[in-house]
Amino acid sequence: MTRHLRSLLDLSVAEAQSVIERAIELKSTALNVQPQPLQRRSVALIFEKPSTRTRVSFATGVSDFGGSCIFLSPEESQLGRGEPISDTAKVLSRLVDLIIIRTHAQTTIEELAQNASVPVINALSDLYHPCQVLADIQTYIEHRGSAKDIKAAWVGDGNNVCHSWINAARLFDFHISIACPRGFEPDPQIIQTNGDRVRLTSEPNQACDDADVIITDTWASMGQESEKRQREKIFKDFTVTEMLMKRAKPDALFMHCLPAYRGYEVDAEVIDGPQSVIWDEVENRLHAQKALMEFLLAESGNLS
Ligand code: CP
Ligand code: NVA
Repeated sequence: MTRHLRSLLDLSVAEAQSVIERAIELKSTALNVQPQPLQRRSVALIFEKPSTRTRVSFATGVSDFGGSCIFLSPEESQLGRGEPISDTAKVLSRLVDLIIIRTHAQTTIEELAQNASVPVINALSDLYHPCQVLADIQTYIEHRGSAKDIKAAWVGDGNNVCHSWINAARLFDFHISIACPRGFEPDPQIIQTNGDRVRLTSEPNQACDDADVIITDTWASMGQESEKRQREKIFKDFTVTEMLMKRAKPDALFMHCLPAYRGYEVDAEVIDGPQSVIWDEVENRLHAQKALMEFLLAESGNLS
C-alpha cells in the first residue's frame, strides 16, 4: 500500500517516534555512510507558494539520498492551465518516485494522494505543516530528551503550524495550551479530534505559565497578505516578549518555523536570545524529512 504524509496523523504513534529516532540517527552519521534510497530516482516538488527552507532542505535531502529533484510551479507547469490534480498525480506517478507538494487547500493534497501510486508529502497547506513539526519535535527531543508529558504553549494565530502541533501533542503524548485572539483559534474539528491534549485561551500569560516550550508563527500566513495590517492590530497583545518567556519554566525553549517578523509575533531579544532554537529547527528539516522519505518509500515497498 502506498503511504503518504498528508498530515502527521498519517503516522501511528510508534511510526512517528521511529521517524524521529531515525532523523536523529541520520543527523549523527551525516558525514559517514549515507543510505541511498533514491539512487538514480527522481522526486517531483510542486510549489504553489513561496519557500526557502522547505525547498532547500528537500533538495539537499534528495541529493544526499542519491536522487534528483524536479521543481514545478503552477506558472511553469500545466497545473496553472487547469490540468486536473488527479491527472497530474497519475502522470507524476509514472515518472518519479515521490511527490512533495506545497499548496493552498488540503483537499488538493488529499486528491493528489488518492490518485498517486507513489508517496505524497504535504510540504505545507493552509491546514497543516507536518514536516515543520516533525523537525520541531526532533529539535525538542534533542535538547530535552523527551517530549512526553511536556506543556507546549502556542501564542498567536491558530494556523497550519499550530494545527500540526496539536496533532503532534497526540502522537508524542504532551499537552498544548494555545493563546489566540478571539476568532483566530485553531480549526474546531482539529481541536475536537485531539480534545484531551488542547487547552484554549485568549490570554498569552495563561498559556505560557510553566511551559516547557513557547512557539509562535507569523500573524499573516501565505495567502493572507491583504489582512496583514488588520491582523497587526488584532494580534498586538500576542507578541512573545522576554516578559512572556519569564512566565514559562526557566529553561523553556523558544521555537518559530520562520520566516519571522521581529517586533511583531516575537521580539528580537527572544528569537535571537539564548532560549531560542530556531536554527536547530531549520537544520532538522533536512534530517526529519530524510527519515520521512526513507520511511514512506520503505512502507510503500519501494526502497531500492
Ligand atoms: N518554515 C518553512 O516552511 O519555511 P519556508 O516557507 O521557507 O519553506
Ligand atoms: N504559517 C506560515 C508558515 C510558513 C512556513 C504560512 O503558512 O505562511
